[in-house]
Amino acid sequence: MKGLILAGGSGRRLRPITHKTAKQLLPIANKPILHYVIEDLVGVGITELGIVVGDTAQEIEKSVGNGSLWDANITYIKQEKPLGLAHAVLISEPFLGQEKFVMYLGDNMFEDSLHDVVDGFEKSSTNARLLLAKVHNPQSFGVAEVDEQGAIKGLVEKPENPKSDLALVGVYLFDSTIHRAVKAIEPSNRGELEITDAIQWMIDENQNVEHRTLKGWWIDAGKKDPLLLCNELILEKIESLFLSQIGETVTLKGEIVVGENVEIIDSNIQGPIVIGSGVRIERSDIGPYVSIGDECKIEDSSVERSVIMEKSYLSGVTQLTKSVLGREVEIDGKESEVQEPTSLMLGDGTKVNLKNG
Ligand code: DAU
Repeated sequence: MKGLILAGGSGRRLRPITHKTAKQLLPIANKPILHYVIEDLVGVGITELGIVVGDTAQEIEKSVGNGSLWDANITYIKQEKPLGLAHAVLISEPFLGQEKFVMYLGDNMFEDSLHDVVDGFEKSSTNARLLLAKVHNPQSFGVAEVDEQGAIKGLVEKPENPKSDLALVGVYLFDSTIHRAVKAIEPSNRGELEITDAIQWMIDENQNVEHRTLKGWWIDAGKKDPLLLCNELILEKIESLFLSQIGETVTLKGEIVVGENVEIIDSNIQGPIVIGSGVRIERSDIGPYVSIGDECKIEDSSVERSVIMEKSYLSGVTQLTKSVLGREVEIDGKESEVQEPTSLMLGDGTKVNLKNG
């Protein structure tokens, strides 16, 4: 089987963070989401991977390269405009050929093993296998209606009045019938060729469409709160690793990963936490559930439950919580009267001054 990873699109929901950055490259525990997706596919033996890319193609190619990091072969498939998930399949037919494949949305992460999801599909006569998960906000997803026997009756993309709480997870298994389906459908009201409509076409044509329901967590990390939640869930699994020596004036608790050339002075670090290389932390309380990218500097600050990307600088910022800070962000909070939890989402290169006056 081949793998098709969708990493085009515009990422508008995470602006300003992804104004410039591809949302699939946002870091979870300091590793881009897209890398987890590739690892997952390679982990089940799928090494022929196509990645659909859009405006952020350059950045994605720089991060992933030719796949040799994972012993995978990567083909980039350029989508001129984000015209929908089914459109991404349409333009990928030359790469996919008639083989069965796994389509994996480049901003999705889930806990269950992909082994269980793909198990038996390749040799079966099933035309499509979908993954469903119970959610509290089905309006934000593709939603499946399931009959009493448990078979999928219908699929609707982001319905105003959902008929169930079962969302379509961003991992789909298809045989070559999908190529007929994506050619048979028309663009939706939002102007996209919807994968839900293509699958609905398969159901209407009496094709064999089955599903599995996820047991563990699943996250569409293209939004701020799910991104932070995903960061927490992944951090919960880390085990301590120290690539730098930490001085005696530092209190360490919980699982902590520390990169190379890290300097921590007069601080309390509460895991789980991942600290990138070249980071300097001074007179600060950090954690739990914080990811700090390479070469960040943090002084006289307290931070919990946040993602801080590379080369950012925090000085005198107290009680920063549930925040996502892009690359090269600077926050100066010294002498600030703000003594209550502050939650921020700042795009790359933003400078904020929280000082009085
Ligand atoms: O996350 C699961 C949901 O993903 C499903 O429940 C929905 O049925 C499905 O339509 C999709 O909804 P989203 O609104 O979350 O899709 P999004 O626009 O965020 O795109 C998902 C991924 O596919 C993302 O990595 C960008 C990429 N993409 C998207 C479009 C529209 C492309 O590569 N090309 C595209 O044309």
